[in-house]
Amino acid sequence: MSLESWRDRFPAIADEGWTHLRSCSVGPVPRSGIDALQAYQRAWLEKARPWDEWLDEVEEARHTFASLINADPEEIAVVSSATSAVSQVASAFEFEDRNEVVTSLLDFPTVPQFWHAHRKRGVELRFADPGEKNYVPVDAYVEQMSEDTQFVCTAHASSFTGGLIDARAVADAVHDRGGYLFLDAYQSAGIVPIDVKKQGIDMLTTGTLKFLLGGPGIAFLYVDGDLANGLEPASRGWFGVENTFGFDIQDPGFAQGTRRFELGTPPVSNAYTANAGMKTIQEFGVDAVRERVVERTARTMERATDCGFSVMTPRESEHRGGVVNVQVENAEQVKDRLHSRGFNVSYRSGGIRIAPHFFTLDEEIDAAVDAIDDVATPQ
Ligand SMILES: Cc1ncc(COP(=O)(O)O)c(C=O)c1O
Repeated sequence: MSLESWRDRFPAIADEGWTHLRSCSVGPVPRSGIDALQAYQRAWLEKARPWDEWLDEVEEARHTFASLINADPEEIAVVSSATSAVSQVASAFEFEDRNEVVTSLLDFPTVPQFWHAHRKRGVELRFADPGEKNYVPVDAYVEQMSEDTQFVCTAHASSFTGGLIDARAVADAVHDRGGYLFLDAYQSAGIVPIDVKKQGIDMLTTGTLKFLLGGPGIAFLYVDGDLANGLEPASRGWFGVENTFGFDIQDPGFAQGTRRFELGTPPVSNAYTANAGMKTIQEFGVDAVRERVVERTARTMERATDCGFSVMTPRESEHRGGVVNVQVENAEQVKDRLHSRGFNVSYRSGGIRIAPHFFTLDEEIDAAVDAIDDVATPQ
């Protein structure tokens, strides 16, 4: 299929006057996502009993996500946000002896913010510092680990710099100390191949709002099956028990596997768009997406550097996710000027974030960098 027909699937990227370079923030929805949403609405409008059909779609989304990261569907819980996934897992642990949680200075705030609140449960939060690098090297995590490390809970790819960590190496290091790796894959899922088994990832979460093209209000939690069966989340609800429709109040028992981390009624309508977004990525192929994103981000960096800008993003493709951060003076104002010229970009950490996806054209990247060159001063 030609790139043009792929692009036709996303009306928002053809929105007159706008160039979409913001999948690190809100990815565009494919037409199939809106068709799916209408199927959800039609079932509700026209059918006396839409419930089974709705739950089938939630199950299908669970299966689709599982296949995306090489997990078993029983190792996936459907939740409402990445933050709630971390919260559900934390509720299954005590932090008396093993009380250290390592995150990084390049993490999206919600993970550190969550763990900060757990200091009252004894958590000591530590930050891996990337130093001069724009990704967090394994040594920076190791420096913060000890025999008391319970989790390394950190972003696979940074939303600020696009820096990608070596998940396998971090997993090995934390396993050597008896702890677990919990990966926040919100900036990598869909554009970086993930194999939780091969990479030794114990827990992982992501929502579908960004590069997975599936919209907000839903997230997935992976917990390794053997591990999950030994955990008893203190926070759970009727979808996390052995028999949801057994309505057992006195001795409910935990669901098998990672479902035990589910709470109440799942985010049904969001499962429809999430499933369609993830299937679109699968149809194009995660490896093919990765190749395109690596090329597109490389082009962005090269062009920006040629124009005299420094880039707060790793040059080496193995350390790079989907974000290029072009450093400018007054990033917020520059973002406003770029919006007025129709470039849908965002700003973070003193720079403009450009996040191309597989459908992004060379000329869109070139035009965006030319516009930055026009309206901004290098930092
Ligand atoms: C790396 C990363 N983690 C988490 C989130 C958000 O998580 P939640 O689903 O809890 O809103 C984002 C962006 O919104 C992100 O970029």
